[in-house]
Amino acid sequence: MYKIKIPKNRLRKLKTFTLGQKPYELQNLNPGETNNNLIDLCSNDYLGLSRDKDVIKSSYEISLSEGLGSGSSRFITGSRPIHSLLEKELEEWLNQEKVLLFPSGFQANIAAVEGLANRNSIVIADKFIHNSLLVGVKAAGSKLVRFAHNDIKDLENKILKFNSAQKSILIIVESLYSMEGSIAPLKEITGICKKYNVQLLVDEAHALGVLGPEGKGLSFDLSDDITMLTGTFGKSFGSGGAFVACNSKIGEYLIQTSGAFRYTTALSPALAAGALKSLQKIKTNKEWGINLLNASQKWKQEILQNLNYPVKGDSQILSIVVGQEEKTILLQKHLEKNGFLAIAIRPPTVHLNESRIRLTVRRDLNLDILKNLTSVLKDFK
Ligand SMILES: Cc1ncc(COP(=O)(O)O)c(C=O)c1O
Repeated sequence: MYKIKIPKNRLRKLKTFTLGQKPYELQNLNPGETNNNLIDLCSNDYLGLSRDKDVIKSSYEISLSEGLGSGSSRFITGSRPIHSLLEKELEEWLNQEKVLLFPSGFQANIAAVEGLANRNSIVIADKFIHNSLLVGVKAAGSKLVRFAHNDIKDLENKILKFNSAQKSILIIVESLYSMEGSIAPLKEITGICKKYNVQLLVDEAHALGVLGPEGKGLSFDLSDDITMLTGTFGKSFGSGGAFVACNSKIGEYLIQTSGAFRYTTALSPALAAGALKSLQKIKTNKEWGINLLNASQKWKQEILQNLNYPVKGDSQILSIVVGQEEKTILLQKHLEKNGFLAIAIRPPTVHLNESRIRLTVRRDLNLDILKNLTSVLKDFK
């Protein structure tokens, strides 16, 4: 029963790291591997807020008054004032009627799909959506249809093929795809959804805090045409937990019917307070997102000039597409030997012969680090 049917070269090893000396460094604690400080080019802590003193202080202080954990579900005794405060501040920031917190983005996505689709629905989803959304489709019992990544024509064809009076249709996309660093053409997607009167769910996990006006995400200006969006505090917000945002009618429907909301311990007050402090910092430092995007474009150009592989990505997520799996692993090892931690993304996460090194550019990385990286990349044969 527990026989693992995964080929040996696809098995992954769980690794442990601890924080390094500098805000962008990690230390590898795995036996037999280098113990040097490595420059973190792979976490999703894009703004460095997980190590921000004010954010950590907020988490600590609220733990003293509200407890580290909430102790039960929101429906029993787990609801704390910090939950409503964070929900209200997000509603205002994103101009949404209802925000509802969840302990993780994985759960928020399952709840979102289950809230918008059921066994009589057709879900038409981008080929690259996150696993949590696919689990949500399974849980909802809907028929799943995929369209080619960011391909509007294919999306429209699939809608035309499955449009019928008996079935409701839900489209699922991410605004910024985490493996490609590609951005969804949301304006066109909302246009098509409106044309055929179908629902749209947008996962803003990687965009929120960085992309869109003042980091409000890529769906912010289109929110009237989006049925629901989800966001997580585990990436740019440097905390943990997540939320869904929608109109108040759907929000109330989720509160009353979602198992993923009801049957789980409420988001810890410590993580909620950390997320709230991060939100306040993002609101105050409106230029953070745009500065990070400008820096990322510079990184992309420099890397392109120094390496013979294509570099993809229109955001803080870049990928060096090496192609061959073995060669990509060699590049990861070469980087690690030279003090950089960037992860090889291989099949089945990406297609065969599209293996890549995924790089995330963080706000706290400086130009000296970039110079050093490009000279290390130049040495790779
Ligand atoms: C696109 C996307 N959505 C949702 C999630 C899940 O979020 P969380 O880490 O908060 O569970 C992730 C995390 O990897 C993600 O990349």
